[in-house]
Amino acid sequence: MTAIETRDLRKSYGNLQALKGVSLEVEEGEFFGLLGPNGAGKTTFISILVGLVRKTGGEARVFGHDVEDDYREARDAIGLAPQEFNVDRFFPIREVLVHKAGYHGVPKDVAEERADEALRTVGIYDKRDTRFHWLSGGMKRRFMLARAMVTDPDLLILDEPTAGVDVQLRHDLWNIITRMNEEGTTVLLTTHYIEEAERLCDRVAILDEGEVVEVSSPDELMGRGKDTVRVSLAEPLDAVPASLDGDYETRVEDGELVVETRNAGGTLAEVMRALDDEGREVVDVEMSRTSLEEIFVDMTRNHDDVTRTPEGET
Ligand SMILES: Nc1ncnc2c1ncn2[C@@H]1O[C@H](COP(=O)(O)OP(=O)(O)O)[C@@H](O)[C@H]1O
Ligand SMILES: [Mg+2]
Repeated sequence: MTAIETRDLRKSYGNLQALKGVSLEVEEGEFFGLLGPNGAGKTTFISILVGLVRKTGGEARVFGHDVEDDYREARDAIGLAPQEFNVDRFFPIREVLVHKAGYHGVPKDVAEERADEALRTVGIYDKRDTRFHWLSGGMKRRFMLARAMVTDPDLLILDEPTAGVDVQLRHDLWNIITRMNEEGTTVLLTTHYIEEAERLCDRVAILDEGEVVEVSSPDELMGRGKDTVRVSLAEPLDAVPASLDGDYETRVEDGELVVETRNAGGTLAEVMRALDDEGREVVDVEMSRTSLEEIFVDMTRNHDDVTRTPEGET
């Protein structure tokens, strides 16, 4: 079963095309990441799925339900933790959760159990009688996740769930979300933290200026990076030794040999043998790999044909 299916999805705000024809499929049970810089259209995409924003073109379905024609069915399948806090200020948080579950058709006694369970899962059960307003920033984030899970949704949508939180809380939230996914919940997560996508997601779509640039697994993306091997020798080099002509690129930098390759293991052995044959003494070897972050920045930069105006400037 397909959890999310969009075809040529479009959204314009006046002259601005926030989504320029996004086609994506997320399978049931997947942990899917929507990755992209600020303004890419991530929140707009999610807002259409949950019925907060009306699309201007294309199609969007959640578990086969059209998000506009079958709004109720589609919406009831989703638990959303939005990017911006939008919680009732006047009720204690446990009551907010009970109302939320009730609104999505859960009977009161079950709703109360679910509320307690969700608060325990995110670790703020002892704050159950407190109003949202009085929670600390970290507790607010925890509560947003509790509210998303209280209806026991088949699809959990998390819009930048760890933006601005400390490392400890980030890891706590990751663990909770991962466990839910392992228990069968489909997860759609947006983030601009590459590490988050790398750790959590089975697949990611990279969105840039309203267009999908790439859909891939984080591992596949990493595979596109290069390894750099840097070799220092007892006697600095002025030129790359002629015997180094394998399937890799070489140059000399500050007397050191720099080798770029897609296969560090094989290349390293070859290079060492060649240097040894020439009687050169190696004193140090350093290896580094392109990070997913660098690959990501490269992709969203290459996608840009025109110069982007920096945010806040005109
Ligand atoms: N309600 C709105 N009215 C006008 N423009 C909007 C509105 N919401 C978002 N946008 C614009 O649409 C683009 C995509 O925004 P958004 O979906 O929030 O991106 P992201 O979540 O990836 O940062 C941005 O250029 C943003 O300024
Ligand atoms: Mg956003």
